[in-house]
Amino acid sequence: MSRKILVIGSTGKTGRNTAENLLKDGYDVRALVRREDERSKRLSDLGAEIALGDVLDLNSLAEATQDVNALYFTYPIAPGLMDATANMAQAAEENGVEAIVNMSQISARRGTESNAARQHWVAERLLDHSPVAVTHIRPTFFAEWLINMWDGSGELRFPFAEGRHAPIAASDQAKVIAEILKDPAPHAGQRYPLYGPVELNHYEIADAMSRTLERDVRYVPIGLDEFETILKSKGMSPHFIQHLLAVAVDYQNGIFAGTNDTVKRICGSDPKTVETFVAENRAFYDAH
Ligand SMILES: NC(=O)c1ccc[n+]([C@@H]2O[C@H](COP(=O)([O-])OP(=O)(O)OC[C@H]3O[C@@H](n4cnc5c(N)ncnc54)[C@H](OP(=O)(O)O)[C@@H]3O)[C@@H](O)[C@H]2O)c1
Repeated sequence: MSRKILVIGSTGKTGRNTAENLLKDGYDVRALVRREDERSKRLSDLGAEIALGDVLDLNSLAEATQDVNALYFTYPIAPGLMDATANMAQAAEENGVEAIVNMSQISARRGTESNAARQHWVAERLLDHSPVAVTHIRPTFFAEWLINMWDGSGELRFPFAEGRHAPIAASDQAKVIAEILKDPAPHAGQRYPLYGPVELNHYEIADAMSRTLERDVRYVPIGLDEFETILKSKGMSPHFIQHLLAVAVDYQNGIFAGTNDTVKRICGSDPKTVETFVAENRAFYDAH
């Protein structure tokens, strides 16, 4: 098994799980990290080769992509996605990388109000011109939002009205990403929306959490102004807040809705339900 796979964003949610899946299956993984810390040590202990680098620095990427067959690219909702994508595409082409799996999102489109989602759409189009085979993944909202936005009060305060989505765990996305990286050819040129197994509104998500955690969880629909105040209190950047306010409106309008069988088709098993995700993270909820 001589394929070498580069995982960018390997200390983040989807990247870490992708690297771990590939290592578990015996693949040769190079993990790009910005600094050595306990997260990179964990990856190294699992057998990953650690490459220090930054996607905003072309030369470090050119080094990290040497002798690589395929790579996973993800970048946070932060300024710099266009530079990062262009650098990654250039480095991949220079070094003869065969395939790229590119993290995008379901709301990416030409006419979106979100600057970040528009950049994802342009990044997809840029990569479509690359000679390297590209697969775009377009998840709906991650299940991890049910942790990131949890304030311990038992209330889910979101401006999502009665909009619906099927939350998908980063670990399920990582299974898809790893399978594509192992055998990219059948997925070349594809754009895969990724969903969890069950589409729910936030009243139903709160019910599922209540049942699983055996405590009262309640959805409280709020307006965009209150949501903005909450996001600011969490110290989120203006870029991130602009994105979240825009996609909240998308969410109400059904852009995040839907489900499909892509995870099962590519990985052979169903993605996690909200109940399973919450049960797996019970220790977090018990501590908060
Ligand atoms: N959350 C959602 O509901 C959702 C839904 C759909 C799509 N998405 C997409 O998911 C993507 C984020 O993926 P994720 O959640 O797996 O990532 P994440 O957990 O936010 O982690 C981001 C990773 O990128 C690394 N990184 C940041 N800046 C870097 C740089 N300049 N050079 C090299 N590495 C850098 C981070 O490293 P450090 O640890 O050093 O910071 C970290 O490993 C976004 O593009 C977003 O649009 C998210």
